[in-house]
Amino acid sequence: MDKRPIGIFDSGLGGLTCVPYLRQALPREKFIYFGDTARTPYGSKDPSTIRAFSAQIAEFLVQHQVKMIVIACNTVSSICLEDLQQRFPQVPIVGIIEPAAQAIADTCVKGSSVAIIGTKVTVKSRVYENLLKELKPELCLHAKACPAFVPLIEEGIIENEIMDLTIKHYLDDFLQESQADTLVLGCTHYPLIRKNIDRLYPDLRIINPSREIVKSVVAQLEEHDLLSPGNSDFENIFYASDLSENFVNMINRIFADENFRVEFRSVDPDARKTPLE
Ligand code: DGL
Repeated sequence: MDKRPIGIFDSGLGGLTCVPYLRQALPREKFIYFGDTARTPYGSKDPSTIRAFSAQIAEFLVQHQVKMIVIACNTVSSICLEDLQQRFPQVPIVGIIEPAAQAIADTCVKGSSVAIIGTKVTVKSRVYENLLKELKPELCLHAKACPAFVPLIEEGIIENEIMDLTIKHYLDDFLQESQADTLVLGCTHYPLIRKNIDRLYPDLRIINPSREIVKSVVAQLEEHDLLSPGNSDFENIFYASDLSENFVNMINRIFADENFRVEFRSVDPDARKTPLE
């Protein structure tokens, strides 16, 4: 048993799409979230930059007494999981890609055509393909980077024509050529445009890694005897390196019914310490 909070992080607000599923499965737990909104997007940056940013955030979370770190980001999970596990052996660290690949293997029938969309870094890493080669080699896999989605989502450009056109730009030909029956939302920002995708491609089966990660988090908490008994003095806190309006609105929506705190905090040693007026 352990009352300390669970740390979660992403390059921005995308990781928030995991939070409702985690809260539902783990109602007694408290969460500390860090969104690196000042430096998002990560998905088109050099891996060495992403590794440095991720280590700063993990360090911040460890200093805030988290008992576990959840990497609510496919990009970071695809290239930094082992590095972070080695640097921070004092806490279990859960990535999002392994549980997602397991869900794909468990639910897609032999011969399925599976389209995976994500950031440039995630797609280039081929982590989904490499895991699935082991778990279920009979699937036809196709992957495509969709780098314009994250900046639009961070700006809150979601329920409108610009987003629909961007989705069609990336997916029309890709889905047609791959004859995909299943689409994997391989970036935690993408569930925020799921309604658009459902409307544009109603026959596609969608796999949402932001939901699938929950099983791994619960399993790790159980394995390390870290589940909270409840009545924790800790509070739910959302840190962002830049408090964008969209980030705050999103949290308000998720936590409408409960107490939480939102704070600006930079983890970049060279950055200004307070937000500009
Ligand atoms: N939400 C992230 C992911 O799951 C990162 C997106 C980005 O910053 O480019 O990949």
